[in-house]
Amino acid sequence: MIKGVLTPPGDKSISHRAALFSALRNGRSQFTNFPASGDCLATLHCLARLGIDHRLEGENLVLSGRNRGDWRPPEKPLDAANSGTTMRLLSGILAAQPFSSTISGDEHLQKRPMKRIIDPLRQMGASIQGEQDRFPPLRFEPVAQLNAIRYELPVASAQVKSCVLLAGLFAEGQTVVVEKESSRDHTERMLSLPVLEKENGNRQIISHSAVEIPDLSMAVPGDISSAAFFIAAALLVPGSELQIRNVSLNPTRTAFLDVVRNMGAGLEIERVTDKPEPAGNILVRYSKLVNKPVREDLIANLIDEIPILSLLASQADGEFELHGIQELRVKESDRIEAICSNLKNLGVAIEEFDDGFKIKGPQKLRGGRINCFGDHRIAMTFGIAGLSADGPVEIDSPSVAAVSFPDFWNELKRLSS
Ligand code: S3P
Repeated sequence: MIKGVLTPPGDKSISHRAALFSALRNGRSQFTNFPASGDCLATLHCLARLGIDHRLEGENLVLSGRNRGDWRPPEKPLDAANSGTTMRLLSGILAAQPFSSTISGDEHLQKRPMKRIIDPLRQMGASIQGEQDRFPPLRFEPVAQLNAIRYELPVASAQVKSCVLLAGLFAEGQTVVVEKESSRDHTERMLSLPVLEKENGNRQIISHSAVEIPDLSMAVPGDISSAAFFIAAALLVPGSELQIRNVSLNPTRTAFLDVVRNMGAGLEIERVTDKPEPAGNILVRYSKLVNKPVREDLIANLIDEIPILSLLASQADGEFELHGIQELRVKESDRIEAICSNLKNLGVAIEEFDDGFKIKGPQKLRGGRINCFGDHRIAMTFGIAGLSADGPVEIDSPSVAAVSFPDFWNELKRLSS
């Protein structure tokens, strides 16, 4: 059974942005509930090399920003570790600096596509080189001036959107990013950027050099993507009842809640605050789930929760077929392959497509060995699978969970009985 109260770690997307944006503002900013997770530490370490001092004690962060243009040239290449958000967002700023820099990451990040940021940054006049023009390391040389562009996002990606908007803070003129499908909106919210909602459903987000970075000091709300693993755990294990406290309820992040609710999940959601981001509490009770089609327009806002959703689908009644998730192939691992091969290792019949998968539930889970492919969300998904399997589920590298949720395994032990 899963019983008790969970306060999830601070939201990873908000925390990266809190640190990066505050680094562009003269003076001290303070954050509580800032997660000491691998990804967020990577952002802080890169910033430190750029002359941005910080002190992180437990989950309390004090960061001393410097005005835009006042960062120090790094002496060594920057290391974004496993963090795509660090690399893609920071690149938008590095492209505009009056010094050379290089940013790379671990073996997984080095395989992730960067052409999606190289292209728009070059259109803005940046000097950026990647490995084969597509992969890290990324090398930046100073240019006299970036130019504003109007950029229609070819993929629904908050990282690409944010990269271009950040470069826009240094460019001559108004940079407009057009998104056809909504993606997480933390950047525009936190920087209070103008957003135009068009009749055709497009969103246009504007940035320019006069945008003033506000004091973002805050208590970071909990990460709904981390909470999703425990929501799933409570839904799967009979008799469970779990309180989740202080979790982000930003509407561009809650598609997972909509999807599981539509499958029959017993959730009580209490919105407590709207500032700095919508946040509140969730009560989850064990529920019998029935597979339902997922609306295509929800996929971009569900992208990080698809691994854990696949596990729920394998235990729910009926057929579950999901397409249009090809982006999952270029995440921290090829998550379509990781989901399918590992569910198969636990005895689940699953059909893999280029852009998705199909499962007929419910299927018995047996014990087995899990290859995480170095991916935190795969490790946590199959950690939860272990609660329902009729034999031991052995995870090859459980420690990778610390990329986003350092306390995951302790919390799992604490809440399950
Ligand atoms: C993130 C955006 C998403 C998400 C990632 C965090 C962000 O990536 O998968 O975990 O903080 O902007 P994409 O922009 O590649 O979709």
